[in-house]
Amino acid sequence: MDDKKALFATIRTSVDGILAAGGSLERKLKAITNLLANEIDYYDWVGFYIVEGDTEELVLGPFVGAETEHVRIPFGKGICGQAAATGETIVIQDVSKVTNYLSCAPDVISEIVVPIFHDGRIAGELDIDSHELGPFSWDDRELLEYICACLSKVWEPAGDNV
Ligand code: SME
Repeated sequence: MDDKKALFATIRTSVDGILAAGGSLERKLKAITNLLANEIDYYDWVGFYIVEGDTEELVLGPFVGAETEHVRIPFGKGICGQAAATGETIVIQDVSKVTNYLSCAPDVISEIVVPIFHDGRIAGELDIDSHELGPFSWDDRELLEYICACLSKVWEPAGDNV
């Protein structure tokens, strides 16, 4: 097993512990942002966006990293809005190659966004920015999709999450 696989296995175990420990959803989201930002050196900004009630708008939730002006993002806008509109994970290895991108900070080079579902609809998403070019492998995608699948099981009704 290489170092990355070993690290990611440890992170999965830590996420299981965070989710089993109870407490509010916000506490769990905050703990997961801290874990990912601390353990994975190329995760330079880690945050959650939450769908606001019955709207088609994402609101910034717990995050670690630089302040962003994008605290509200409508479905369809930017990479985050695109992931919300399609319900699919989006991996951008080089943000300079895409047009539908909302810049958070000039040093961001790549981004991965993974949707979270609850009751058959999109409820939020996990967004990661990196200052490296093309850092996201299949292992990253699998880890983040695992975390979002676990979160969908403990998600609280819309409106109680932010
Ligand atoms: N880059 C995102 C906006 C969110 S910030 O990166 C935190 C996008 O294009 O939707």
